[in-house]
Amino acid sequence: MNFDLDAKTRRALGHKLIDTLDSYFASLPERAVQLPVEQRSLPPLTEAMPELGADAQVVFEDVCRELIEHGFHVPAANYFGLMNPAPTYMAVLAEALVAALNPQLASVVRSPLASSIEAQTVRWIGERVGWERPFNGTFTSGGNEANFSGLAMALAAGFPGVMEEGIAALGVRPVFYASAEAHHSLDKSAGLLGIGRQALRRVAVNPALQADPDALESAIREDIAGGRQPFAIVATAGTTSSGAIDDLTALAELARRYGLWLHVDGSYGAAAIFSDRHRYLVQGIEGADSITIDPHKWLAMPFAAGVVLTSHPEMLEQTFDVATPYMPPSASMTHTDYFRISAQWSRRMNSLKLWLTLRVHGRLAYEELIERQLQLARAFADWVEQSEYFELAAPQVLPVVNFRLKHAGRTPEETAATHAALLEAVTASGRHWISRTRIAGQSVIRMMVISYLSEERHLHSLEDTLLAAVQSLARTAK
Ligand SMILES: Cc1ncc(COP(=O)(O)O)c(C=O)c1O
Repeated sequence: MNFDLDAKTRRALGHKLIDTLDSYFASLPERAVQLPVEQRSLPPLTEAMPELGADAQVVFEDVCRELIEHGFHVPAANYFGLMNPAPTYMAVLAEALVAALNPQLASVVRSPLASSIEAQTVRWIGERVGWERPFNGTFTSGGNEANFSGLAMALAAGFPGVMEEGIAALGVRPVFYASAEAHHSLDKSAGLLGIGRQALRRVAVNPALQADPDALESAIREDIAGGRQPFAIVATAGTTSSGAIDDLTALAELARRYGLWLHVDGSYGAAAIFSDRHRYLVQGIEGADSITIDPHKWLAMPFAAGVVLTSHPEMLEQTFDVATPYMPPSASMTHTDYFRISAQWSRRMNSLKLWLTLRVHGRLAYEELIERQLQLARAFADWVEQSEYFELAAPQVLPVVNFRLKHAGRTPEETAATHAALLEAVTASGRHWISRTRIAGQSVIRMMVISYLSEERHLHSLEDTLLAAVQSLARTAK
């Protein structure tokens, strides 16, 4: 009984994996996102943990088949869902390589080249931000951890000593600001940082769903007058529901005026820095003290890949460094051990997939992806605007479109119920996937172009499905 499989079995399993991935990737342009609604229920898996193993090829073939047959296929061209992309094939290969080599990115000694590749990838991203001052950053498990890390640095910068002495020693109530539309990872981070979720002041948005700078300034003044101590503003570049981008220049100016740390949650939208043409969308991002960008959103990486960057590299160590006798001393003068500048300790190499994709396809592939997806979303928004049944519910800025039925209901509850019924009808066959959400408290239907495989014909097919669903709802209502 050994985990060490013989070479013949290893190769047979490897070929099976490559063949499975190859036919899976080939199927994605036409694949339904999920099974039809009547076939979706899965019985619970009740078998006990196996004491003895079974034939590797049989088990592996079974799980490959079942995961695909019963899967929810985020990479499919017909997935117009949340911010989860089709992964590049080079990224998939990188993931397999990383799993096999298992470099320990906690320390440079145990991952010399891997740490250098990670540092280079961070540098490539930071250079696209346009920072002329020194910067540094780390890969994270995603936007949640990156936002947490940005807020932790903001707190450590605002309250020197807080990492050692804790919040209780401060004698003041730290507070920070984000828009009403900002992601709920900020609430989570506030709770976990010990400042409490109520420390997050959510400010009103304008009709473009951007944080209103005047409302934000009033909130800051009110808090100061009330004896609380503001320490950060979180601007969002690409809100989850509608893709709105806060006025980064105005928020940077406010942050400077009040001596606050500006964190930009660009989990999705900061990827626009990869495009020369569309970089203007995140104009002012270089004014941030820290930035979240998630390659596992617009940059077509598989989970997990987030990045937190800061233009105050010393704050990474001041926030995360800790001494331990057992870590091997760093042999490198060029890189800091990642356990000293990150919320994680043992670290997977989440950077190789982006590095390899950039080496093979180049930045211009992202320039093109961003351009194409913006055009597709614009075309869909035009279709909505010209439609007899639908209307836009928010400006389309990124490849996210919020829309609603023109005559959905007399009350907000009725509208939400009609949208829910419409969504059920649209997604029943399993072919397409779109979602619904609330913006400024109102029910809206949401679609986004996120798979690099989505083309015009997929949008036309979604439009036909939406029209068929409206007509079927109208028939049922009669
Ligand atoms: C704007 C924004 N910030 C943060 C997050 C959290 O990112 P993750 O899911 O990678 O942890 C999301 C997730 O969708 C998001 O949309």
